[in-house]
Amino acid sequence: MTVMTEEARGALAPVEQTSAVAKPALLSVEDAKALDVERMTELFKAHLNPGQLHFMKLLGFHKVKVERAEGMYYVDQNGRKILDFFGGFGSLAFGHNHPRILEARQKFQEEKRHEIAIAFMSQYATALAHNLAQCSPGDLDMVFLGSSGSEAMEAAVKLAERAAGPKRPKMVYAENSFHGKTKGVLAVTDGKLYRGEFRLTENTVRVPFGDIEAVENAFRADPEIGAIVLETIQGGGGIIEAPAEFWRKLRALCDRYGVLWVADEVQCGFGRTGRFYAFEHYGVVPDITALAKSLGAGKAAVGAMIARRDVYMKAYGTPKTAMIHAMATFGGIGEACVTAIEGINVLYDEALMDNAAATGAYLVERLNELKEKHPRIIKDVRGRGCMVGLEFQDFSQTLPAVLRPMVGMLDDKLKGSLSGFVGALLLRDHHVLVAFTEYNRNVIRLEPPLIAQREHVDTFISALDALLSRGVVSIVKDFVKSQMG
Ligand SMILES: Cc1ncc(COP(=O)(O)O)c(C=O)c1O
Repeated sequence: MTVMTEEARGALAPVEQTSAVAKPALLSVEDAKALDVERMTELFKAHLNPGQLHFMKLLGFHKVKVERAEGMYYVDQNGRKILDFFGGFGSLAFGHNHPRILEARQKFQEEKRHEIAIAFMSQYATALAHNLAQCSPGDLDMVFLGSSGSEAMEAAVKLAERAAGPKRPKMVYAENSFHGKTKGVLAVTDGKLYRGEFRLTENTVRVPFGDIEAVENAFRADPEIGAIVLETIQGGGGIIEAPAEFWRKLRALCDRYGVLWVADEVQCGFGRTGRFYAFEHYGVVPDITALAKSLGAGKAAVGAMIARRDVYMKAYGTPKTAMIHAMATFGGIGEACVTAIEGINVLYDEALMDNAAATGAYLVERLNELKEKHPRIIKDVRGRGCMVGLEFQDFSQTLPAVLRPMVGMLDDKLKGSLSGFVGALLLRDHHVLVAFTEYNRNVIRLEPPLIAQREHVDTFISALDALLSRGVVSIVKDFVKSQMG
């Protein structure tokens, strides 16, 4: 039993409120838990993102208040279980609230461990860095820890630029790429919407994704190119893979021209495709890579850049250069690191990468059956492991003329796209959540947790089949009706 000192006891004694500063009308944690959807909507509109509510309303998401989440399911305010095939865009490898992750975090708190890793070295950050190096092939040994995918990718492109040197500041990136919304990586993110009117660095060259000739032409034409930044599988682009040959040739080209290859594995990495990194399927190793999303095991905000040691040392290897891009305030923070350490262990202990490959293959197989059954609705099924894209036929031309103005009135984005209608009705009528795709409105992204079993796939497929069997006209009519009510 721990004996508490008098001093410690004093520090814990309740303190009389004597502050001269009046407490504003604050909500307590319990108040927050008790907010209903009407009040949440008011607060969201007043303080978070009024415009975003428009999209939530289109999809019916604004009616849901999640009370709990466990494994493959959310549980809403009415006790309804919602099967999660969205998976936080790949953030939920372990599903919701995996018991081992919860236990590691609870123990960490009970032991009153420290969090901030700025003054002293952290046993948690060093252990996590060790684990990431162990999971990474080749000499991907040096780790930078942050708290998001964007931050990890910022670290990656900054490292690439410094290691490439001042004479080679240009970066190649791909059409339909998504690497985050912070200012630096926005320059290599291809979304017109996200790029907005921001002033971005002009040191970039855009090529079609997976086009090795375009890459070679760019390298050959411009000796100032020092790096190329690519998602290994494009997520926001609509689950797009480049051919295996592309990656092998890319590695060879990078070596020949001395260009650094940055592989963004924020969405496709961490076991989602059946290997720790998606690039491992192609037998190649990049110079710099980045992870986030599931690295935080669905409970913590963690991002990591992992780089080849020689590349890292070239950029930040001396006392003089070490602090140029050292970890930020929350980089390597205690409980987040412990969460990630436990997560990586669970990933291997529960053979979740094998499961992701097997369950994902079964999902693709079942979706292909649906494609045969509904060829006028489903155009394509693609993906690897638990990163699957379902593309619908574009019906902007085929939709009966009477329905077109009705749909057009709802939202410009939905005009030719079934994915919004299908997503909204899957949630409303079948209690299944799926994700949409930034750059291709006809694609639904399926990124279920890596713990998903065949029975979850069967439930999802039955729901989708029942919905698609209603036929396009009925789906559109149902959706339009849902917006009127
Ligand atoms: C491939 C990729 N890179 C980077 C990011 C940015 O990650 P975050 O949203 O954690 O900043 C994302 C997020 O969706 C992503 O999919």
